[in-house]
Amino acid sequence: MKIFVDSADLDEIKELASWGIVDGVTTNPTLVKRSGRSFQEIIEEIFTIVDGPISLEVLSEDADGMIQEAKEIVSKVSKKYQKNVAIKIPMNPEGLKAVKKLSKEGIQTNVTLVFSSNQALLAAKAGASFVSPFIGRLDDMGHEGMQIIEEIVDIFENYDFETEVIVASIRHPIHVIQSASLGAHIATIPPKIIRQMVKHSLTDKGIQQFLDDWRDVKK
Ligand code: E4P
Repeated sequence: MKIFVDSADLDEIKELASWGIVDGVTTNPTLVKRSGRSFQEIIEEIFTIVDGPISLEVLSEDADGMIQEAKEIVSKVSKKYQKNVAIKIPMNPEGLKAVKKLSKEGIQTNVTLVFSSNQALLAAKAGASFVSPFIGRLDDMGHEGMQIIEEIVDIFENYDFETEVIVASIRHPIHVIQSASLGAHIATIPPKIIRQMVKHSLTDKGIQQFLDDWRDVKK
């Protein structure tokens, strides 16, 4: 399973990328706001940190506007990194129209705000490169978010869709384990949760014990 960092915090992305476990990045307007940087600043630097799909979201509400925004984003990225641009498009009829056109022009798309398997199926039919079901937000409403991941993975396998499933809105490390067990292609994970994944108290205790014992070995 590929791991994307769900963040627009460039320092965090840089640190996690240095661990050698990052395959891509997803951002959204909320994450950009939280980073305290301008969208332009982020676009200029983020592609130099991770060599993989970087999702950047459009805000237009009609297909033509989304397509125009997508092209503007691509044009702001230096030529060598343009292959890594993935345009995040909201899941609605206008979004589907935009996805169809952009995919025909070879621009990667990530259909976002997906909350049902039917929405994922339509996004794949329109030619989306990625779909992002938001499981945490479903859990928040008392639904079992992971259930749609299981369905979507099955549906895509049944028909050999090339669209990759990005499990999004991940809230805790168990969501990551479940994503991998279900065969999701990608989990996009907030930095805080990646840090929780790496940690185990027995590992820390074990390292300390080995260091202490080594000090007592006859020199
Ligand atoms: C990623 O693509 C999504 O925008 C993100 O995972 C949403 O997470 P949230 O539900 O915690 O805002």
